Amino acid sequence: MPDNPLLLPYERGTLALPNRIVMAPMTRGRADDTTGVPSPLAGDYYAQRTGAGLIVSEGIYAHPLGKGGPGIPGLVTPAQVAGWREVTGAVHAAGGRIYAQLWHVGRMTHPSVLDGATPVAPSAVRIVGEQIFTNEGLVDHVAPRPLTLAEIEETVAAFAAEARNAIAAGFDGVEIHGANGYLFQQFHAENTNRRTDGYGGSPSGRLRFTVEVVEAVTAAVGAERVALRISPDNPENEIAEEDAQETYRTLVDTLDPLGLAYLHVIERGAYGALADLRPRWSGTLVANFNGPEPTSPDAGENVLDAGLADLFSFGRHFIANPDLPARIASGARLDAPGRGPVYGGGAAGYVDYPPLAQPAI
Ligand SMILES: Cc1cc2nc3c(=O)[nH]c(=O)nc-3n(C[C@H](O)[C@H](O)[C@H](O)COP(=O)(O)O)c2cc1C
Repeated sequence: MPDNPLLLPYERGTLALPNRIVMAPMTRGRADDTTGVPSPLAGDYYAQRTGAGLIVSEGIYAHPLGKGGPGIPGLVTPAQVAGWREVTGAVHAAGGRIYAQLWHVGRMTHPSVLDGATPVAPSAVRIVGEQIFTNEGLVDHVAPRPLTLAEIEETVAAFAAEARNAIAAGFDGVEIHGANGYLFQQFHAENTNRRTDGYGGSPSGRLRFTVEVVEAVTAAVGAERVALRISPDNPENEIAEEDAQETYRTLVDTLDPLGLAYLHVIERGAYGALADLRPRWSGTLVANFNGPEPTSPDAGENVLDAGLADLFSFGRHFIANPDLPARIASGARLDAPGRGPVYGGGAAGYVDYPPLAQPAI
């Protein structure tokens, strides 16, 4: 048995993983921008990374208004489902497991990405301090339009439909993207949720949309194939959560009885989310650190050693090290990206990072 807990197998519920290393979801912007069908290279890209115990796909929009930028894929149309079937087929043929990340960006998009439509959000609160990348380059954000109650209902149903599409496309499960300042966290945070109806106000009001989506997705595909990603107290994308501890304790206490496949917690901000939420979550917990530099394998190992999580997810190191788990196992060097763009483009910087040469036997 290896000493490093990242390399131990993990079995719980529907998860049967050869190691505890998760490939974190990473947008790469290479889908067909018109159709939202994943790149024909996506199957190779993910298949190269099946050394991970579990892969979480890049964020995939659940609703056309949830698309956040050029080249983001969807899981709404039959052509998109067919495109993803190729990807999951390639991953499974290579012996891997892959969850689809279900995404809606809320206000983090622009009319030029949405065929002229105004972005939607809990409330009409515009991002003022940063710009957004579109096909026309970086532009100022527009004020989003508050979702009506009928649209909230429609969006909840869109997530359930996306989850069914994901299973039809061969994904092993789905992860709802409740993190990083996108639609769900815009509902959670006081500065972006000014609603006075049942979807705002108290923690349970601000959490209602998230809970309804988790319940609808669970009803659609079964709790054992549903996960949720959160980033308590994450200030990214102009989010300000005044009481992250109370909000996320309430969320975790509400969702724990459902028996989800896992909870994916990004530790960020002043609130020590992992230590606080770990004892309240009885299921599998996946941890991630989102700092200025790619998280080191040692940091992940320390989190598992400390018992703060069951699995650890790495993002940036998987870009240039498709065989990251093998490199962690052998203590080999980690390469840095640089062969091509992270977002957008084709094969360069995407599927052209080689695994380390295997020693001759
Ligand atoms: C290029 C890139 C794209 C990302 N796209 C997503 C995404 O689609 N969904 C998501 O939840 N997180 C996304 N993230 C965040 C990562 O999942 C992860 O939290 C972050 O990279 C920190 O982990 P690391 O230090 O191992 O890189 C992205 C990060 C990067 C670098």
